[in-house]
Amino acid sequence: MEPLVTVGVLSAFVVYGTFVAFVNTDYFVDPYLSPFFSPCLASNCEEATWDLFGTHWGFSPALLILPFPLGFRLTCYYYRKAYYRSFLWSPPACAVSDFRSSYTGETKFPLILQNVHRYFFFLALPFPIILLYDALRAFRFEGEFGMGLGTLILLANAVLLGLYTLSCHSCRHLVGGGTNLLSQAPIRRRLWGLSTRLNARHMQYAWISLFGVLIADLYVRLLANGVFSDPRFF
Ligand code: FES
Repeated sequence: MEPLVTVGVLSAFVVYGTFVAFVNTDYFVDPYLSPFFSPCLASNCEEATWDLFGTHWGFSPALLILPFPLGFRLTCYYYRKAYYRSFLWSPPACAVSDFRSSYTGETKFPLILQNVHRYFFFLALPFPIILLYDALRAFRFEGEFGMGLGTLILLANAVLLGLYTLSCHSCRHLVGGGTNLLSQAPIRRRLWGLSTRLNARHMQYAWISLFGVLIADLYVRLLANGVFSDPRFF
């Protein structure tokens, strides 16, 4: 059952993400911006975060940014384990033989490219901060301070993505690696301890943050299509 669920959910996420990126509409309802399009960097955005590309970019603005968080997720150590087991049966589980008779693991092309994960970590690091910025902007309704259900959803999404990113193995290595005597680096030791505690829950953060992104996008999309209106708390 577990591989089946993993295959189903990950495939659905990739299909949904690709679909919304290419459909390229209904991703902004003032003041909510879908996380699939944030930051929006071209003039053809429904709401540009920073118009860095101007009119030079004629395709969906999601395509400018999605490769970074997507690459980060696809090369994540946890997701690798999940999809090696479920999609490739390599191996299907602990102490169960591989589907294929030979095993090269990540020592050869193409899987050796998974090592880029440590660089994707740096590329993905700004995204939770940008999403937090979006969530803070979602406290303004036509110039007035306010809060709607969408504000909370965007806020939760930014926090979950932050937890997923900071619990990454590469983050743990960044703060605690490269030294043999952590006892002589008290700040790094403390950060490493914090990162280690988060890292123990990396799998949970990986799944919850995945659903967080989906729910945030779906919420904005349904609002944009007038399926319901955003409940306002004040
Ligand atoms: S190990 Fe999962 S995001 Fe880095």
